[in-house]
Amino acid sequence: MDFLSLPKAEIHIHLEGCFDPEDIEALAKDAGVPLPRSRENLYDTSGLSNFLAFLDWTCGLVRFREQLAGAAYAFSRRMHLSGVRYADVIVNPTHWTHWHHRIPDMIDALDGGFAEAEEDGFAPAKLCISLLRKQTSEQAIELVELLTALKHPRVVALSVDGNEAAAGRTGPRFAEAYRRAAQAGLRRTAHAGESSGPEGVRDALDFLRVERIDHGVRVIEDAELVKRLVDEQIALGITPTSNITLGLYGGYDSHPFEALRKAGVPVSVNTDDPSPLSISLPQEYANMANANGWDKETVRAVARTSITASFAEPELKASML
Ligand code: ADE
Ligand code: ZN
Repeated sequence: MDFLSLPKAEIHIHLEGCFDPEDIEALAKDAGVPLPRSRENLYDTSGLSNFLAFLDWTCGLVRFREQLAGAAYAFSRRMHLSGVRYADVIVNPTHWTHWHHRIPDMIDALDGGFAEAEEDGFAPAKLCISLLRKQTSEQAIELVELLTALKHPRVVALSVDGNEAAAGRTGPRFAEAYRRAAQAGLRRTAHAGESSGPEGVRDALDFLRVERIDHGVRVIEDAELVKRLVDEQIALGITPTSNITLGLYGGYDSHPFEALRKAGVPVSVNTDDPSPLSISLPQEYANMANANGWDKETVRAVARTSITASFAEPELKASML
């Protein structure tokens, strides 16, 4: 099956995870900073904490507007080469040392890169601006107030990412920020059920009132909660290679994607951080299709879920389906 031309959206991907080794080498050279390891062995995928620390280091190299716009443009080009028709892209300002105190400038620079990419015929991308799991309730509210005042058309959603295991329970802490985001018309997603168990997913539903969940896979450990996702048709942005590489599951065969799909949960295939994980979206569809013996109709149904669960405008969605 041709996974490249399959109409699909990417709904769980971090801009921070889209720097290839040659991009990082060029940024480090520009900044006069040595690479921490050889270019061939650059990424640290030895668990989520080290992985996230490396993303911090990489994004800390990005100092100039042209570099940010270039990263956005390169992102759209990557989507184009994967046959992606629309992307919700997560950007967490806390990773970007030179930008997190000037988020409007950051969004403006990214918007410039995405706009240029669209002019060149690449698919549209919208930003899910993300809180870091360990931020305070006040910082979360401050971010939402900033986004609400800015009202930038490139920003579609509020998100939260980072290591659930290292930051404790975040549902109650971010509830007010998410309430204000909903009131301001921002869409809502959250990482949950990756480094937390099902309780993180329950909190995301109860406190953050999310419309979609990034990962969510560990909900499989709680049958009642699986039923709730089915009843409420809450979609999961699942990233199988990421979960396997970062040690959550042993392989594609033992990943819960198929069990969740068969239970009726709206599940989608995504890449999370394609550069460090050395994965493309068509390859990720192939991995899941091969592991689970999917026929064409199943592949199409999963791809359709990525579109319906995306935060794309309704007309754009309709044109993709
Ligand atoms: N940021 C980038 N990738 C992530 C992941 N897999 N989990 C949490 N935060 C992330
Ligand atoms: Zn993620």
